[in-house]
Amino acid sequence: MPNSMNLTILKLGGSVITKKDKPFTYALKTIRRLAREIAKSNIKPLIIVHGGGSFGHPIAKEYSIKQGYRDSSQLYGLAKTHLSMLRLNHIVMTSLIEAGVPAFPVQPSSCFVTKGGRIDWLNMDAVLDIQQLELVPVLYGDISFDREIGFTVLSGDQIVSYLSIKLGATRIVMGIDVDGLYASNPRTDPNSNLLHRVNLSKQRSCIKNLDVRSDIIDVTGGMGGKLQELIPALRNGAEAILVNALKPKRILKALRGEAVIGTVLL
Ligand code: IPE
Repeated sequence: MPNSMNLTILKLGGSVITKKDKPFTYALKTIRRLAREIAKSNIKPLIIVHGGGSFGHPIAKEYSIKQGYRDSSQLYGLAKTHLSMLRLNHIVMTSLIEAGVPAFPVQPSSCFVTKGGRIDWLNMDAVLDIQQLELVPVLYGDISFDREIGFTVLSGDQIVSYLSIKLGATRIVMGIDVDGLYASNPRTDPNSNLLHRVNLSKQRSCIKNLDVRSDIIDVTGGMGGKLQELIPALRNGAEAILVNALKPKRILKALRGEAVIGTVLL
């Protein structure tokens, strides 16, 4: 069995590693800095999952990939969406390896199967074998083949939550592009307070307040969807922290379990 003790799962949000409003634009400086922070943290065992941002959402939306198979014209879009995620993954992988992280990619569309958009089956072999060798598995939001609707979009957040339950992760670090959860929408209310700890029972009201940024295409549900996905993992005993990955050292501190600005979810 791999050593899942104290497993940490890190999600790098698509809005951190790409410029979410500019299709196919990645944030190389940020990706490289994050790779260095991950290397420096030296946290083991670790699984990294990254989002799609402008490499995933606009193209998935154009071909209605999330809605599943309607006609054969979507197939080209399905292939293009996956290729685009492979490209982004390649950039993330390159930066991780350059920074000294023994990272190894796992292609979610090849090992997860969904049913009606929810993960129904996972061939864990790849993740477990990679982890056993103390390599760092790197997964990402991808398309998935779906037993009910043919295909759909599988978000990195759903992967994080699912793996966290399957492998008994103790910590989930969610790298996002804001400081955490606020009592009200900080983009419209400058006096909004950052919430330092949020428990499950409180989450619903936060979800409502945080469905913001309608200018950004996000086929997998934005912040509200993220929180919703995390609930089963939290109920399974994992602690999650939302941290601003655009601010230097916050991911480093969060990975090390040090005090950091962010929102702890229980
Ligand atoms: C989306 O993954 C993947 C595709 C649209 C193909 P995520 O839902 O995890 O991406 P972000 O973090 O919201 O960008």
